[in-house]
Amino acid sequence: MAEALRIENLHVSFGASTGQVKALNGVSFSQEEGQIFCLVGESGAGKSTVALAVMGLLPITASVPEGSIYFDGKDLLKASPDEMRHLRGNQISMVFQDAQAALNPVQLVGPQLEEVILAHTDVTPRVANQMALDMLAEMGMPEPRRIMGQYPFSLSGGMCQRIMLAIAMVLKPRLLIADEPTSGLDVTLQAQILERIRTLSREQNSSILLITHDMGVVASMANKVGVIYAGTVVETSEVIPLFQEPQHPYTWSLLKTLPRLDQPDSRLEPLRGNPPDMTKLPEECPFLPRCNKAINRCRQDPRPPLEEMQPGHFAACYNPVIAGVD
Ligand SMILES: Nc1ncnc2c1ncn2[C@@H]1O[C@H](COP(=O)(O)OP(=O)(O)OP(=O)(O)O)[C@@H](O)[C@H]1O
Ligand SMILES: [Mg+2]
Repeated sequence: MAEALRIENLHVSFGASTGQVKALNGVSFSQEEGQIFCLVGESGAGKSTVALAVMGLLPITASVPEGSIYFDGKDLLKASPDEMRHLRGNQISMVFQDAQAALNPVQLVGPQLEEVILAHTDVTPRVANQMALDMLAEMGMPEPRRIMGQYPFSLSGGMCQRIMLAIAMVLKPRLLIADEPTSGLDVTLQAQILERIRTLSREQNSSILLITHDMGVVASMANKVGVIYAGTVVETSEVIPLFQEPQHPYTWSLLKTLPRLDQPDSRLEPLRGNPPDMTKLPEECPFLPRCNKAINRCRQDPRPPLEEMQPGHFAACYNPVIAGVD
C-alpha cells in the first residue's frame, strides 16, 4: 500500500506571554492510503497542532524549528503558500474542532455548500441545490431547507461540524483531517457521522486522520493509532495490537478509562495527575510523574525514543507493559 502521510520528528512552539509553549516535541507517525489513522490523547497533548501543521495553517505565533511532513512524497513544510492553498482546495481537507469559526460567517449555509459543489462538479445550480439538501439530510440534519437559509453563527457547533463534513465529502479529498468531529453530539448522531467518514474512506479510498480523545471512537474507527502525550507520539501501531498488547503505560491507562463489556462491574479509572506544563518540559520522560511503571532509568536518562517493540508496533518507554503481567 502507498504511504499517504508521514510525519517525522515534528517540533512546533508557540510564542506566548508565559514563555515558549513547546506544543510538539518530535512527533513521528505514518499512515497508508485509504487508512483511518486515529490520533488520540488528552486535552493539550498537541493533536490540533499536528492537524494545523499538516494543513499549513499554524498561527503566525508558531514556529517549526525541526521536522518534515511528507504528503505524496513531498515535504509540505517546504511547499509555497500557493502550493498549500492548491492542496487544501483539491487534496487535503479538514473539519476543524471549532467548525463554526471555520465557516464563512457572512454567507448563508446553502450558498456555501452549493459553491463548493459547483466548483468541484459539472452540475447545474438546481442540481447543486438538491445535492446540498440531500447531503445535509444524510448528515442527520433536521429540516435541511431551513438550515440552508441560515448563517453559521445561528447554528450549534455540532451542526457546523456536520456542514464542514458535508463540504469535505464533496471535495472527495485524498486526505481528510477530522478534528474531534463528533464531540458534543449524542451517541446516535455520533455513530451516523462516524459511518459517513468510514464510507468516505471506503468508497473514495480517502485517507482519514481522525483526532479524538475517546478510546471508544478509536476502537470503532481506526486501522492504525498514534497515542500522543505532551507533544510526542508515545505509541503507534495497528489498532488490534494496540488494544491487545498496549506497551506504553499511558496507553494502558487510557484503555482503563474504557468500560469493559466482559467485566461489567469493573470501575472506570480516570487518569490521575495532570499533563506537564508545556512551557517547562522536563528532560526526562514527561509521563514520569504519572507513571506506575517508572524505574530508575526513567529518572536518569533523557526521554526514551520511539522504538519498534514488535513488528510495526512502536513505543517510547524504558519499561514497557508486558501483556498479562499488569
Ligand atoms: N495559538 C496558540 N498559542 C499558544 N499556545 C497554544 C496555541 N495553540 C495551542 N497552544 C498550546 O499548545 C498545546 C497543544 O495544544 P493543542 O490545541 O494542539 O492540543 P489538543 O490536543 O488539540 O487539545 P484539545 O483536546 O483540548 O483540543 C497546549 O498546551 C496549548 O495550550
Ligand atoms: Mg484540539
